Amino acid sequence: MKQENKPVHGMWANRWVFILAATGSAVGLGNIWRFPYITGENGGGAFVLLYLLCIAVVGVPIMAAEVMIGRKGGMSPINSMRKLALDSKVSQRWSGIGHMGVLSAFLILSFYSVVASWALYYVWESVIGGFQGITAAESGARFDALLADPWLMMGCHTLFMVLTMVVVGRGVKGGLEKAVEILMPLLFVLLVVLVGYAATTPGFKQGVSFLFAFDFSKLNGQAVITAVGQAFFTLSLGMGAIMAYGAYMPRETVGKKGGKPQPVSIMSTVIIIALLDTLVALGSGVAMFPLTFSNGLEVGQGPGMMFVTLPLAFGQMPGGVLFGTLFFVLVVSAAWSSSISLGEPVVAWLVERGLGRGKAAALVGLGAWLLGIGSVLSFNLWKDHTFLVGTFFDNVEFLSTTVMLPLGGVLIAIFAGWVMKETHARKELAMKSFPLYLVWRALVRIFSPAAVIALFTYTIWKMVF
Ligand code: PHE
Ligand code: NA
Repeated sequence: MKQENKPVHGMWANRWVFILAATGSAVGLGNIWRFPYITGENGGGAFVLLYLLCIAVVGVPIMAAEVMIGRKGGMSPINSMRKLALDSKVSQRWSGIGHMGVLSAFLILSFYSVVASWALYYVWESVIGGFQGITAAESGARFDALLADPWLMMGCHTLFMVLTMVVVGRGVKGGLEKAVEILMPLLFVLLVVLVGYAATTPGFKQGVSFLFAFDFSKLNGQAVITAVGQAFFTLSLGMGAIMAYGAYMPRETVGKKGGKPQPVSIMSTVIIIALLDTLVALGSGVAMFPLTFSNGLEVGQGPGMMFVTLPLAFGQMPGGVLFGTLFFVLVVSAAWSSSISLGEPVVAWLVERGLGRGKAAALVGLGAWLLGIGSVLSFNLWKDHTFLVGTFFDNVEFLSTTVMLPLGGVLIAIFAGWVMKETHARKELAMKSFPLYLVWRALVRIFSPAAVIALFTYTIWKMVF
């Protein structure tokens, strides 16, 4: 098989490096911070089940579509889609999906950095032993004090954005691979420690049954679209992050001991990533809900959930200072590898337009940083300025995650299923089983778009009537 394209931005060394990078993108604040808090706000069990269904039948096929489009195009999402549209003799306006993705990336990066910077601050709090013997009320007050201090938050937000853009500016390959290889397994270990601790608390049973008791009467319209949005957000879908990383994915394995190189399977790779991501989300839930019930906290307490519940665990368990510090370092690393993937598609596109990588990264970082100030102020000075769905932060989060990612994802599915040449898609996916390929095709052509559109229609219906 000849190499059809040599990506300008470089190439992952092999399939495992792609898995590491894509898992680094997927596993982040979406799992540890967002999944538990929105699950709490949306009644638990039924919401979780719907979320899992969305991951399996909408998320996985669309993720495969993104990787496939990226690898076939070999460029930034905008230009990959432009290229494939050209190949398929359809309007190049299809690359507009990529432009929308750029906008989503800015919006998400702006608030993502702010939340990640809370975790950054909590590394410090943990090091100085700030969680030792803390009560639930004190833990809440400590988090509120951080939110009330715009200058402190600005400082942390600035630091995190610089960290992100330094890596993107140097090119994603160097450094990132090594970091993810060590940090991801460690994150799993620390989550197991936390789950183990949660199991010793009196609220364990209640916490677990909150997550897994499927009571569909709790599912309202808002909960439905939140679950759909979360599925896209947590797998980094709908804005081109996975597509950009897919562009650097090799087509063939390096042949072992003179053996023939084997095609690299997109589908099995994508399933591994989705499973790892789901494991981290559920693990975070199983760690946090028992703590919530054991300490008489509100399940629907909102974005502060992880920052209020986890210090309680670290304050009580033996070795809490060490575990707490390590844990928040890992959360920052997970958020870091995700925010890098938010910046990459935009920066890659600017590089293709002739800008230097460093300059492009600086520009993107500055833009997202400025927008992020709005999110910083949403928790203090602008707290009471609410419109549409809430504060500035709430609106940016809702618009990007719940509206734009599912919309982008559906358009990508339609692009992969209806626009791209079928022979190209089949060859690029190179699935061993033809029936399974047909299942994928039916999912991206019909089922995923129909399901997402139906769920949105249902929600709007519920909201209006
Ligand atoms: N998947 C990341 C998380 O769960 C967030 C993300 C969304 C990253 C979109 C890239 C693109 O934290
Ligand atoms: Na995730």
